[in-house]
Amino acid sequence: MQGVAKMPDDIATSTQPSVSVENIHISDADLPAFTDMPFEDIEELHLDHPGASDEEYRKRRDHIAACAKKFRETGVITDIEYSDEEQGIWRHVAGRLEELHEKHASRFYLQAKKDLGISNGRIPQLSEMNRRLKELTNFRLAPIEGLVNTRAFLSWLSWRTMLSTQYIRHHSRPDYTPEPDIVHEAIGHIPMFTNANFADYSQFIGHGARVANDEQLEELGRLYWFTVEFGLVEEEGDVKAYGAGLLSSFGELEHAFSDKVERRPFLLEQVINTPYDYSEMQRILYVIPSYSELKEVTRRYIESIAGRS
Ligand SMILES: [Fe+2]
Repeated sequence: MQGVAKMPDDIATSTQPSVSVENIHISDADLPAFTDMPFEDIEELHLDHPGASDEEYRKRRDHIAACAKKFRETGVITDIEYSDEEQGIWRHVAGRLEELHEKHASRFYLQAKKDLGISNGRIPQLSEMNRRLKELTNFRLAPIEGLVNTRAFLSWLSWRTMLSTQYIRHHSRPDYTPEPDIVHEAIGHIPMFTNANFADYSQFIGHGARVANDEQLEELGRLYWFTVEFGLVEEEGDVKAYGAGLLSSFGELEHAFSDKVERRPFLLEQVINTPYDYSEMQRILYVIPSYSELKEVTRRYIESIAGRS
C-alpha cells in the first residue's frame, strides 16, 4: 500500500514519517513479515506468576508458545486443543464476568461478543474470531506467546492487527492473571474490534506508534490505557465500560462504578498527560461521548504527531 513502509525501518529511523492516517484499507499483502518481529523482547512467564513453579503449566506454556512461533513462519494460526482443566477455568471466569457485563458493559460490546460467537461454554479459537473480524472490519489477530514492548505492540495496530495470547491463566488463581491471557483477549479486547470506529481508532494509535518519538510514545501508551484498556463510554444517558482491563476483571469492573473512582469527561490533552499505575486499581477513568468522537479527536492528534516527528 502506498505510503506504508515496513515496521523495522520505521522504528530504526526518526526521519520523515511514513504513515498516512487515511491508510485504513489494509490487505494481507500490505502486512510486514511477522518474522520481522523482535523475538528477543517477548516476555514469557515471570517468576512471580502463579504458575511459575508448576512444571506441567510451564510445559503447556512452552507448547502454546511454539504454536505462536510457528504462526510467524507460516502465517497460519494453530488452533489450541484446550484441556478440560483449561476449559473449566474459562467457564468459571466467563460465567462470573457475564453477570457483571449485563449491568456495566457497553451495549455494543454485548452484541459484539454474540456476533463473534464467544460463549461461556468453551474457549474460542483465535482462528475463528480472526475470520469473523476480517469479514466485519478487516481487523486481524496474530498469536503471540507473551508481552512485547509498547512500540512493537502498538505498531501492529497500524496494520489492523492485534497481537493476541492463546494460553490461559493458572488454575490456582482463576480470578487473577498478572499478564494478558486468552480471557483478557477474547473477553476483553477482541469484541470491540468489530466496531468500525473503534477499529479505525486503534489503527490510528498504531500509525502514531510507528512515527512517535519516545515522549509521544508514552502519550500514546496513556491514551491506549485510558481507552482500550480502561475506557468508559456514554450510552443512552448512562455510563458503560468498553475497556478490556475492565471487562475482563471482576475487581476492576465493580471498582470502576464505585464512588472510589473519579469518572472524568474525555479530554485528549488531559488523558495523554495523566500517569497511571498498572499495579493498582484505577482511581481516574475517562468517559468518551462516542466511539466516532474518540476516532475523530485521535485522528487530529495523530496527524499532529506525524507532522512534528
Ligand atoms: Fe490488554
